[in-house]
Amino acid sequence: MTKEKFTVTAALPYANGPLHLGHVAGVYLPSDIFVRFLRMNNHDVAFICGSDEHGAAITLRAKKEGITPQEIVDKYNGIIGKAFKDFDISFDIFHRTSSEIHHETAKDFFKVLDDKNQFTKETSEQYYDEEFNQFLADRYITGTCPSCKNEDAYGDQCEKCGSALSPTDLINPKSTLSGKTPIMRSTSHWYLPMQNHEKWLKEWVKEGTLDGVGQHDASKWRNQVVGQCMSWLDNGLRPRAMTRDLDWGVKVPVEGGDGKVLYVWLDAPIGYISATKQWAKENNKDWKDYWTGDRKLVHFIGKDNIVFHAIIFPILLKAHEGLILPDNVPAYEFLNLEGDKLSTSRNWAVWLHEYIEAYPDKIDELKYVLTSIAPETKDSEFTWKEFQTRVNSELANILGNFVNRALVLTQKYYNGNVPALGILTDTDKDVIATMEAIPARISKLVYDYKLREAQAEAMKLARLGNEYLAETEPWKMVKDPANAERVATIMNIAIQITANLSIVLQPFLPSTAEKLSEFLDFKTTTWENAGKLDLIPEGHSTHKPSILFQKIEDSLVETELEKLEATKSIETIFDPQKENASFDEFSKMDMRLGTIVDAEKVKKADKLLKLTVNTGLDTRTIVSGIAKHYSPEEVIGKTVTVLMNLPPRKIRGVESQGMILMAEDNDGNLSFMSPEKDFEAGCGIH
Ligand code: 2FM
Ligand code: ZN
Repeated sequence: MTKEKFTVTAALPYANGPLHLGHVAGVYLPSDIFVRFLRMNNHDVAFICGSDEHGAAITLRAKKEGITPQEIVDKYNGIIGKAFKDFDISFDIFHRTSSEIHHETAKDFFKVLDDKNQFTKETSEQYYDEEFNQFLADRYITGTCPSCKNEDAYGDQCEKCGSALSPTDLINPKSTLSGKTPIMRSTSHWYLPMQNHEKWLKEWVKEGTLDGVGQHDASKWRNQVVGQCMSWLDNGLRPRAMTRDLDWGVKVPVEGGDGKVLYVWLDAPIGYISATKQWAKENNKDWKDYWTGDRKLVHFIGKDNIVFHAIIFPILLKAHEGLILPDNVPAYEFLNLEGDKLSTSRNWAVWLHEYIEAYPDKIDELKYVLTSIAPETKDSEFTWKEFQTRVNSELANILGNFVNRALVLTQKYYNGNVPALGILTDTDKDVIATMEAIPARISKLVYDYKLREAQAEAMKLARLGNEYLAETEPWKMVKDPANAERVATIMNIAIQITANLSIVLQPFLPSTAEKLSEFLDFKTTTWENAGKLDLIPEGHSTHKPSILFQKIEDSLVETELEKLEATKSIETIFDPQKENASFDEFSKMDMRLGTIVDAEKVKKADKLLKLTVNTGLDTRTIVSGIAKHYSPEEVIGKTVTVLMNLPPRKIRGVESQGMILMAEDNDGNLSFMSPEKDFEAGCGIH
């Protein structure tokens, strides 16, 4: 196989929350397997990632947590970066789009396109939130998707059906800042006239050619990627704004750009280039080698990112000139969890960093299960029960069992020294032929981006070994000294299979493969060696193995399910936290202790009591909906919390001058909020 050059990117995760198993199964694990395989095949590879630190995903999260965007990205870049490290994802670099080198790279890129007249500048009416004095683009605006009628579509995209949208496409648009219907206001932006690129894109996506010249193998692109691209292209592309009226992001570097930043989907993919620059700088390389020439650029992404990587970024790369276009864009479908969609906002997720913290010795177990169920062609589902079954019946009972038998018997019969290979029976020859054929099949599958099947193929080698020992039963044969040579042959073959496993498992289960290498005292990282029968010479000394995989107990499954159930009940019992209120908003509320000095029922209103309350400042009337919970006699004399400065309003003919604050439990029971100490009416509440 001729050696090739690859630049492999994994979608830059937004630094607005931790990673969950869906991210891992659908981007980071498959890209890592692919890259590990390429490296073993001696290809020249750069594996690039980083965090995506601009855009509304960040600023809205910062607002929700009540901290600055910088604090948000620092926090999540740290959590995500650590999780990648602990999970042993082998990026060459995990960079950040808030870095200076990224800002400079993105600005230069923009200037090059602007100089080449690749943008049009247009003034248009856009949605504007008057209360927050802000234009509303992307996630700042939600509404109903015109295609699928999803009511929570964003201003740039419907996450349900994948349609690329503009805010004005939304039916019933609402500002995510104030919740109000926005007004229209005029603003100017730089647009990418995507419609001018339709023709070449159609040819390029469908045929893999540009002006008839071959660029990539279109047959290797996933159906859903080609399908989604063709549907956009057939519907006709429209100009898309490449700048935004925001202050968080890469500043627009040309005249007229004050107060504007680059659209996050322009700046984020350029993050692949800036990360490569940083890595090249640190490693004495030239970044251009990784973005030009006969190099294959591969973007691993989730399906909601297809349009950005297979249409918009290619337009930008081509318009820039001199840079390569993607060779493939392997996009993954979504992973569900225990029968429901993974959701960050509902906390319906298994968070990678939490898994690692709870089960630091079960990293490969998770990798194995996630690759087995990877959503390559359709959505798939993670359940803890299946996790248990796959670990126990596949990893422990097949792989672990085989390796343990092969090494323990070698210890027992030969003191760990690999015995000689004697005359081969037909069974041996069949097993050897199968072993020899497996690596080529794995290779083909990996190059076709079928990593799920590729891992299953690698596991076939463990199954083969397991069945071979079960069939030949060396532990029975060894009892008769006449079988000595036969037993030696069987054990030699078992050890060669184990050595082969230490190679073919490396891309998928690196730490397991490493353990096998330690047991065998043999290591090769060269794929070419896979399939060979003579990896370990006769007489080579092996070590006593330890158990490769502990069985997953029922208690682990139960604990994890309970954790998820608890999320569900929190969700159903209590209202989710409201949007942050500013300190100013809070301090406008005048709350004090008041003592109820008189109480009576309100006529013809069975829920209401008319209370006379001494507030320390005055004695006032407050109508309160507590009659079903308290009798008038019960409440007289109680010191309670009063919201003083609600505008007076008439309730059933009685003017109410304030509100009594109550706590409400799950069943709708009410309780006064009375001071725990003997405080008197008039005390302020802050
Ligand atoms: O969907 C996302 O999570 C984006 N942050 C992916 C960006 S990929 C690339 F373009 F940077
Ligand atoms: Zn939709």
